Amino acid sequence: MARGVVKGFGGQRVLDSLDLAVDQGAIFALLGPNGAGKTTLVRIFATLTRPDSGTITVNGHDLASDPVRVRRSISLTGQYAAVDDVLTGRENLVMMARLLHLPRMAAKSRAAELLDVFDLQDAADKRVKEYSGGMRRRLDLAAAVIARPPLLFLDEPTNGLDPRSRNQLWDVVRELASDGVTVFLTTQYLEEADQLADVVAVLHHGRIVAQGTPAQLKANFSEPGASRTLDEVFLALTEAEEISEAKTEGVIR
Ligand SMILES: Nc1ncnc2c1ncn2[C@@H]1O[C@H](COP(=O)(O)OP(=O)(O)O)[C@@H](O)[C@H]1O
Ligand SMILES: [Mg+2]
Repeated sequence: MARGVVKGFGGQRVLDSLDLAVDQGAIFALLGPNGAGKTTLVRIFATLTRPDSGTITVNGHDLASDPVRVRRSISLTGQYAAVDDVLTGRENLVMMARLLHLPRMAAKSRAAELLDVFDLQDAADKRVKEYSGGMRRRLDLAAAVIARPPLLFLDEPTNGLDPRSRNQLWDVVRELASDGVTVFLTTQYLEEADQLADVVAVLHHGRIVAQGTPAQLKANFSEPGASRTLDEVFLALTEAEEISEAKTEGVIR
């Protein structure tokens, strides 16, 4: 999917010759701390930001030569941040479905179906301004999948949600994936990656420093006889690199 992707802002290299392969039909988590470059990478994949260099294909389409096809084959939450507060959840979904050229009846039934999948039946006919953060986030997600995109980007989907809303969101993400949608999400939370993802990639200092199933990552980085949580694996990976960098710097000086 991505080879040798470089992206800098001013003098700062955010993505530094990054390579990444994502299989279709799975939940893929890009894990990294705040400022690691997760949003930058998602924006590049979603054609919103251009890389300085590198080769990228998304859903089989070359990003540089065919950005329009790429854009048509994906969805990104936040893209429709304009859910209208004074409309109800149902009205919002019907309106967006109509904007996507669904006939009136089809728009209504798609909206009803999504309200059901995203557990918004009870709130369907309330105005969005009365929604909680979690409900709003689920509506956002519903809006993003109206057109059944094969690939969905979720940039820190549970950021700021309480544990209950976070769990509900995890459920709907799982449901989307079981419907065949490839989900590419970013997170700072190891637990989220562990619970939700089929494959996790760790982004650190502009590169992918580890990739695998949560179980593989745990197994690869555990001492014989000791099992580690993904949390510990992440710490080990990032600390090891910091230590070796500190050493290199020491040598140079
Ligand atoms: N448009 C921009 N202009 C300048 N710097 C940016 C811009 N977007 C991101 N950055 C910088 O790139 C780095 C990575 O940001 P970001 O991709 O948002 O990280 P993450 O999403 O992992 O928190 C940060 O240091 C951020 O300040
Ligand atoms: Mg971000």
